[in-house]
Amino acid sequence: MAIAPFLLAIYFASLTIYRSVAVTILTSPDELKSSQYDFVVIGGGTAGLVVATRLTEDPKVRVLVVEAGGRNEGVLNSIVPYFAVQLLGTSSDWNFTTVPQTGLLNRTLPIARGHILGGSSSINRLDYTRGSNDLYDRWANLTGDPSWSWASLEKYYLRSSRLVPPTDGRDTTGDVDPSTHGFGPIQVSLVSLPAELDARVVNTSRLLGGRFDYTQDWNSGNSIGIGHTQCSIGQGVRSSSAVAYLDPLIDSSSRPNLSILINTVVTKLLPSEASHGVPEFKTVELGQVNSNSRFRVSATKEVVLSAGAIGTPHILMLSGIGPKEVMTPLGITTLVDLPSVGQNLTDHPLIQTHFLVNSTKTFDDVLRNETLAQQTFAQWNTTRQGLFAGPSGGTIGFLRLPSDSPLLSRFGDPASGPHSPHIELIFANAFGAVGVSVPATGNFMSISTGVVSPLSRGFITLISSDPFGKPLLNPNFLDNDFDVFAMVQALKDMQSFISTDPWRGIVIGPTGQLVDATTDEQLQLYARNASVSLNHSIGTARMSPFSAEWGVVNPDLLVKGTRGLSVVDASVFPSIPECHTQAPTYIVAERAVDFIKRGMACVLVELGLSEG
Ligand SMILES: Cc1cc2nc3c(=O)[nH]c(=O)nc-3n(C[C@H](O)[C@H](O)[C@H](O)COP(=O)(O)OP(=O)(O)OC[C@H]3O[C@@H](n4cnc5c(N)ncnc54)[C@H](O)[C@@H]3O)c2cc1C
Ligand SMILES: *[C@@H]1O[C@H](CO)[C@@H](O)[C@H](O)[C@H]1NC(C)=O
Ligand SMILES: *[C@@H]1O[C@H](CO)[C@@H](O)[C@H](O)[C@H]1NC(C)=O
Ligand SMILES: *[C@@H]1O[C@H](CO)[C@@H](O)[C@H](O)[C@H]1NC(C)=O
Ligand SMILES: *[C@@H]1O[C@H](CO)[C@@H](O)[C@H](O)[C@H]1NC(C)=O
Ligand SMILES: *[C@@H]1O[C@H](CO)[C@@H](O)[C@H](O)[C@H]1NC(C)=O
Ligand SMILES: *[C@@H]1O[C@H](CO)[C@@H](O)[C@H](O)[C@H]1NC(C)=O
Ligand SMILES: *[C@@H]1O[C@H](CO)[C@@H](O)[C@H](O)[C@H]1NC(C)=O
Ligand SMILES: *[C@@H]1O[C@H](CO)[C@@H](O)[C@H](O)[C@H]1NC(C)=O
Ligand SMILES: *[C@@H]1O[C@H](CO)[C@@H](O)[C@H](O)[C@H]1NC(C)=O
Ligand SMILES: *[C@@H]1O[C@H](CO)[C@@H](O)[C@H](O)[C@H]1NC(C)=O
Ligand SMILES: *[C@@H]1O[C@H](CO)[C@@H](O)[C@H](O)[C@H]1NC(C)=O
Repeated sequence: MAIAPFLLAIYFASLTIYRSVAVTILTSPDELKSSQYDFVVIGGGTAGLVVATRLTEDPKVRVLVVEAGGRNEGVLNSIVPYFAVQLLGTSSDWNFTTVPQTGLLNRTLPIARGHILGGSSSINRLDYTRGSNDLYDRWANLTGDPSWSWASLEKYYLRSSRLVPPTDGRDTTGDVDPSTHGFGPIQVSLVSLPAELDARVVNTSRLLGGRFDYTQDWNSGNSIGIGHTQCSIGQGVRSSSAVAYLDPLIDSSSRPNLSILINTVVTKLLPSEASHGVPEFKTVELGQVNSNSRFRVSATKEVVLSAGAIGTPHILMLSGIGPKEVMTPLGITTLVDLPSVGQNLTDHPLIQTHFLVNSTKTFDDVLRNETLAQQTFAQWNTTRQGLFAGPSGGTIGFLRLPSDSPLLSRFGDPASGPHSPHIELIFANAFGAVGVSVPATGNFMSISTGVVSPLSRGFITLISSDPFGKPLLNPNFLDNDFDVFAMVQALKDMQSFISTDPWRGIVIGPTGQLVDATTDEQLQLYARNASVSLNHSIGTARMSPFSAEWGVVNPDLLVKGTRGLSVVDASVFPSIPECHTQAPTYIVAERAVDFIKRGMACVLVELGLSEG
């Protein structure tokens, strides 16, 4: 992916703006002043920073966070919303790749994950959708624990994010429903530069109604329809877990008991003792790239694994917690035989189609005119307004399959419930974003089609016991025929949406492979040839009922067959949300904090009894 050289130049020129402040962040295990903390949180990502900052609200609680990546501060591509795509394939990205995907004509796909404080919330594409109420009610059903139902989780959602105005100061009445939003640190806003395209999308949805009907707010519990994109952006800058939960504490002196160790990889967990044959994992081994030195730190209360849907199963298997037949051949002693570790990997497939349009109001020129790009950056730099304060599109649609779709009778309904979609449409007012090479002339819009209730399941497995090596990733995209057929339905919906009156004289036609795809067979081939990952990996350390024969964590997020170890990140999701996955991750993390605090209270009671 070519990065426009002039935008890189802007990036380097601007690094000096962000003066680094004196902070208590450690960059090497040598600098650790203690080898014991109450909690060690593995991964300073989306969920990990929520857990660490919430637990240390109690000044007596000492937490160490260990993060493989570096600081988010000063990383302009992470700060400027429009520049997000330029982070892919950099030191802020783990750069994972899948094995050849049979369902995708044997193509391999790159998979991004954040390698930076804030994790994937520091590099993602900012869409903020919490999913339907049905989603969480299904989680309650799948785990057998009513405390995962929406009624019980709503307070954690409200605690995690809040709605703020876009920086252009326009009246957003009717475009969003403030009453469904909360009061938490993550700032959520509509885009700051609405495009003509967005008005056309909304007009069309009002005109068509039915499956395409306008929806005022995704985050109201009913997550179907077409409406305005909400983004994790506040005051024109990215609002990640690092920016929203951590940064305000770094600049104050109110958290003496929170330590953050960056540029350091957790190489494995070590068993400390076994009680009644159940091993306890409260010691963590650390190291740095290109160094053979290893360090150990221990948690007196709990180790919280928040390394994400790829990192978490990787660390578990390196530690001897996972499928025995995977670990034994690599010389790893099985301490807990948990066959579900790494299994059931689920992700959303997506295709971006570009259309040539008869409009001069697209954003393509910014991507090919250096002067205009610099002006646009200067506008962002001085006012936090304009195109760079958001993504290149302000509308999304989440649709259900037609109610008479033969897919529903053939495959059953894979969605969580009647308010949950099967497919997604994302509109962008340009050929692509910064970093994507754009044709030298022409005006474009792009529509991405995705399957958000896929039935394909893949896995992550170990191929080496080297903790600095990469695990094998096989998401099995489009392995299940439902996903192929649903993608074809999404492509047809896209085409019928823009074949309506509001688009007459505007859409000239698609570019690329879709031009020649007219029959279902051709559309299926296009789906297999063009799908990429939406980078929504989940489910590799699934929650399951206490009594289940499968699963990795219990509904209280403690790892089955162990003591002192829990998982808090997107790997515990018992099913894939029919939405983008950051908001559900924040909900799980805020919910987990209460589990952990309750666990602490129980320990204190136990101690009290044994001492008394
Ligand atoms: C490119 C991209 C675009 C996306 N777009 C959107 C979007 O628009 N909207 C949306 O809602 N979601 C989006 N997502 C998905 C969403 O960001 C993730 O689902 C969510 O952030 C996952 O959070 P997590 O806490 O599970 O993991 P992460 O946030 O990835 O955190 C894991 C952390 O653990 C660290 N780590 C891993 N292994 C180790 C180790 N061995 N030692 C130490 N540290 C380790 C990592 O460096 C990372 O910081 C996107 C994701 C990506 C990558
Ligand atoms: C924790 O923070 C408090 C201040 O709130 C401080 O007095 C105490 O020394 C700290 N404890 C440790 C172990 O750093
Ligand atoms: C990802 O790849 C880029 C380009 O090769 C590299 O510079 C970067 O260090 C890689 N990321 C990590 C975490 O290794
Ligand atoms: C994909 O690879 C498999 C195994 O190598 C092969 O049998 C199959 O024909 C390939 N499919 C395509 C479409 O190339
Ligand atoms: C989950 O839903 C199924 C199907 O509706 C139902 O049979 C089952 O009893 C539910 N399980 C729990 C634990 O609620
Ligand atoms: C959308 O509809 C409104 C109200 O009918 C109209 O004023 C506006 O021009 C339309 N916009 C587009 C881009 O079609
Ligand atoms: C995958 O998840 C399903 C529930 O969605 C479960 O029934 C199955 O046992 C899981 N497989 C493994 C290997 O954990
Ligand atoms: C590039 O943008 C600048 C500023 O808007 C404009 O003056 C100039 O004409 C543009 N150049 C080209 C080649 O379009
Ligand atoms: C951004 O603004 C700051 C002042 O706020 C200035 O110092 C810096 O040079 C500007 N950067 C660019 C690239 O214009
Ligand atoms: C483009 O739009 C103009 C009116 O704005 C119209 O006259 C022209 O026919 C359109 N061109 C195409 C190819 O549709
Ligand atoms: C797949 O797409 C590529 C371009 O990205 C094209 O060259 C190739 O012919 C396509 N293959 C099929 C089978 O359509
Ligand atoms: C997901 O990440 C990969 C790897 O960086 C990237 O190629 C792909 O475009 C991303 N997907 C989306 C929809 O942004």
